[in-house]
Amino acid sequence: MGRAGLRGAACASELADYAWRFASRSLHSPRGPLRITALAFVCLTLACGRHQTGKYLIGFSQANLGEPWRVAMNADVAARAKDFPELEIVYADAQQDNAKQVADVENFLRQKIDLLIISPNEAKPLTPVVKRAFEQGIPVIVLDREIEGETYTTFIGANNREIGHAAGEYAAELLGGKGDVVEIKGLPGSTPARDRSDGFREVLAAYPEIHIIHDPVANWLREEAMTQMEAALAAHPHIDLVYAHNDPMAVGAYLAARAKGRDTEMKFIGIDGLPGLDGGRQAVADGKLAATFVYPTGGKEAVESAEKILHGEQVPHRVTLSTERITK
Ligand code: FRU
Repeated sequence: MGRAGLRGAACASELADYAWRFASRSLHSPRGPLRITALAFVCLTLACGRHQTGKYLIGFSQANLGEPWRVAMNADVAARAKDFPELEIVYADAQQDNAKQVADVENFLRQKIDLLIISPNEAKPLTPVVKRAFEQGIPVIVLDREIEGETYTTFIGANNREIGHAAGEYAAELLGGKGDVVEIKGLPGSTPARDRSDGFREVLAAYPEIHIIHDPVANWLREEAMTQMEAALAAHPHIDLVYAHNDPMAVGAYLAARAKGRDTEMKFIGIDGLPGLDGGRQAVADGKLAATFVYPTGGKEAVESAEKILHGEQVPHRVTLSTERITK
């Protein structure tokens, strides 16, 4: 039985014991029936309280909900949680703000959550609060973006360095080993931005005739990528390929190039591969992107791990989700 269950059970048995003794005494007193009714009311109220329901309370701290991929992650969490009625999930949206995300987790701790799921906005600023939760004995599931160090129960996510390698290999293939590349980067303090860049560059290091000529940061956002791509187009009369760390930025770069009539001059590669009309898969099908790499949200797996942890089962310290290249 997990913390909430134990807490609920211990509390329920103490309450039953007390009620029994109270009722036996009251039966012999003149105001007994009134006192018993009052006690029954108190018991009912307590039994309906959060942890006394026997439900586990999970706090899910999301980095932001402004991006489609994160909306999909929340939907994946909610869908899988439906299969486990003993789990109650409270959600917080940090709106891409590290300080807000720290406050969100602190708020969860005050609510006495039984488990924390967090997809951190940036690694360094979120590390201390995650550590604090973990050291208080609260199991922590870190999703998709990492924190610094190992103070969590399990990390769930795809291997971003490997995705970077795969993107590098496909770029080299598309370029025939030669050409000028623009790399559009995600939020620098978030670990996928670092790993997707490192992996890509590790592969391209073997191709001396491929040059990364421009590598702006667009913080994972489509609009920022459009602006950055406009600058790249203005600075470089010829570009062969754009590698963006996610699909929204890749599509933003594509739109900027199309607006200048230069979209057919170059190829575009993104990451995420979301289904749906606005997703990367559709952008590949429409010929906007040459390829995308599936980056699973891990939402379903996080709920499954939470369920196991709360029932005292062991889970691996790292769960690596698989990726897949999507081309037309
Ligand atoms: C959404 C997102 C995804 C990306 C992931 C990396 O916030 O930018 O597009 O794959 O985060 O953490």
